[in-house]
Amino acid sequence: MATYSAPGKVILFGEHFVVYGSPAILCAIDLRVTVKATPNSACAVSIRSILGSANVCLDMDPALVAPLLRPFHHVAAYRGCGMHMEICSDIPIGAGLGSSSACCVAAAGAVLYDGIRCMPDDILGLSLAAERSVYRKSSGADCAASVFGGAIEYTKDTGPVRRDVRPGIRLVVADSKVPHSTAQMVMSVGKLASQKPEYFKSMILEAADISGRALDAIRSGDISEVGHLASQNQHLLERIGVSSSRLRDMIRLADRHSYGSKITGAGGGGCIVAITDDANYDETMTALADQGYPTYGVCIDKDGATPADMV
Ligand code: PMV
Repeated sequence: MATYSAPGKVILFGEHFVVYGSPAILCAIDLRVTVKATPNSACAVSIRSILGSANVCLDMDPALVAPLLRPFHHVAAYRGCGMHMEICSDIPIGAGLGSSSACCVAAAGAVLYDGIRCMPDDILGLSLAAERSVYRKSSGADCAASVFGGAIEYTKDTGPVRRDVRPGIRLVVADSKVPHSTAQMVMSVGKLASQKPEYFKSMILEAADISGRALDAIRSGDISEVGHLASQNQHLLERIGVSSSRLRDMIRLADRHSYGSKITGAGGGGCIVAITDDANYDETMTALADQGYPTYGVCIDKDGATPADMV
């Protein structure tokens, strides 16, 4: 057992469509969660964070465990012993920046550690199972970005691939301050997918094409093409109904200063991400901050957020 730290993430391209097999591009960000796991002999799973404390019996039926505790119950049950977990996080909750998946990753890393650093694939397997104990349809993209750090391409069937990107692309992330529920947004997109299967299938193909072209543009450092593709991706997100008037206002504002912007994550609330470089980073950041939106800067090159690791 150990203390593990895991980064949050932004989804640059392909959210929602990744659930249906299309590739997504994500980048880990330097806002992190740490989980310190201490085993106990009382067969109890307990957690403490700034949100409060909670505990449950290790042998309780997982279906009866409160959703907030369930991922921690899941990792402790996997390890087969009672556990106390102290959680510290600087990732805003419900903003689409990967706070719950980073919790699952840090908890998995902390309980799996047994004197030797655990393999990333093992942490990914356990953290994803923990996340799916609450949110069954998770594509796994968020956990993968948190485990591997940096920039990744993620496909549900084949998993994550680390991608090097040309230095110079800077992201401005702005929080609408409207919390969202990923499971609810994914469910509403699922309804559209089953009501209009052909229409939805054509959008999946479009999303896959955008992600592919975006990866090329990110790797070659063609920043205006990355911005243009972000705007195209945003049109798809509008069409599947995960935007809102607040998010549209933010995107209009960001588009006046950046190369392009879009929702990042499940939508309905949460954050937008604007594509910038040194030429327009400050003015994009200031324009959004002046309207009262909390903003975060992310540099997506090799020096981006480091992978999940022991503290
Ligand atoms: O929880 P969020 O806001 O990062 O959204 C998760 C990304 C989705 O593609 C919407 C869902 C998924 O499981 O990949």
